[in-house]
Amino acid sequence: MALDQFVSALDSMLQEACASLLEVQSSEALEQLRVRYTGAKSGALKSVQKMLGSIDVKDKPAAGKKFNEVRDSIEAALADASQRLGVGSSKQASGVSFDPTLPGLRPRLGTIHPITQTLEHLKEIMGRLGFNVTEGPEIEDQWHNFVALNIPEDHPARDPLDNFYLATAKSALPRSSGSNQVPEACLLRSQTSTVQIRVMETQPLPLRIISLGRVYRPDAPDATHFPMFHQMEGLWVDRNVTMAQLKSVLRLFATSYLGGDVSIRFRPSFFPFTEPSVEVDYWWNGQWVEFGGAGMVDPNVFHSVGIDPEAWSGFAFGLGVERLCMRRFGITDIRDLYRSDVRFLSQFAT
Ligand code: PHE
Repeated sequence: MALDQFVSALDSMLQEACASLLEVQSSEALEQLRVRYTGAKSGALKSVQKMLGSIDVKDKPAAGKKFNEVRDSIEAALADASQRLGVGSSKQASGVSFDPTLPGLRPRLGTIHPITQTLEHLKEIMGRLGFNVTEGPEIEDQWHNFVALNIPEDHPARDPLDNFYLATAKSALPRSSGSNQVPEACLLRSQTSTVQIRVMETQPLPLRIISLGRVYRPDAPDATHFPMFHQMEGLWVDRNVTMAQLKSVLRLFATSYLGGDVSIRFRPSFFPFTEPSVEVDYWWNGQWVEFGGAGMVDPNVFHSVGIDPEAWSGFAFGLGVERLCMRRFGITDIRDLYRSDVRFLSQFAT
């Protein structure tokens, strides 16, 4: 195509466009003109631009320049017409350009943390087995974390190296209490068994509760340890509760949570607050894995909360929630749960 032909095509287009834009009376008509001249698919400018390809190489720079001039003039005429008709005046005033044809920004949706999902799931299963959910504080006194659970003063479980004791401000003590009276240190609870005591102290029998929450132990973090983790505590106190019921409840729970017919094993163990005591193992990936501890409530514990052990019996258990969660989601490093990395966490969207 010859250059002068190209130029005259552009000129007549410009003339026609300017004439129509000067006369345009409505924003709808203006929009039609905008599409007719500058539309991305079949606007007039677009079709002329296509002709650029057939221009002689030596004329290309001049043709390109002319094209740009005409395009700018048409855009200026469009802007004038918009202003005259008051179209998009607010956008011009604020200087923000808004292109309604751009795709929208998708709001980022969060996901529920796998541990939270697990806690909800556990509550749901235990609820079907008749267990009510209760809660207890994470900052505990020594009575609930140790004494009432039959853990005496000199027991290694109370060692400051194994617990997060909280500094107690001496200045908080009233002066009259004497200089050598040290206030009892509170601690971050090291087990959810504390809630057993709180519930038995305050609620009428019989009792069938679970309590889920955080516990704290000063362990160095590795693939299976973290200084904060979650436990699910269970307590059933009634007239004739037996070890057989304990085993059925834990087996039914495991079958519902892990799916299929899960094998469960009790190994003799020791906890100060249960007698007899067992470690609870589930068969997982060709081996026995420990999920927690359990046993029949020790008569000393009943005594400390004023329950007659001749008239009542009960069982208690405490399972590690992280373990259950990791087992279900195929997570192999507990630390991944607490790195707050959305790339990891968003994989467990429900
Ligand atoms: N509290 C024990 C622990 O943290 C678990 C447990 C709970 C054992 C209840 C027996 C009964 O290891």
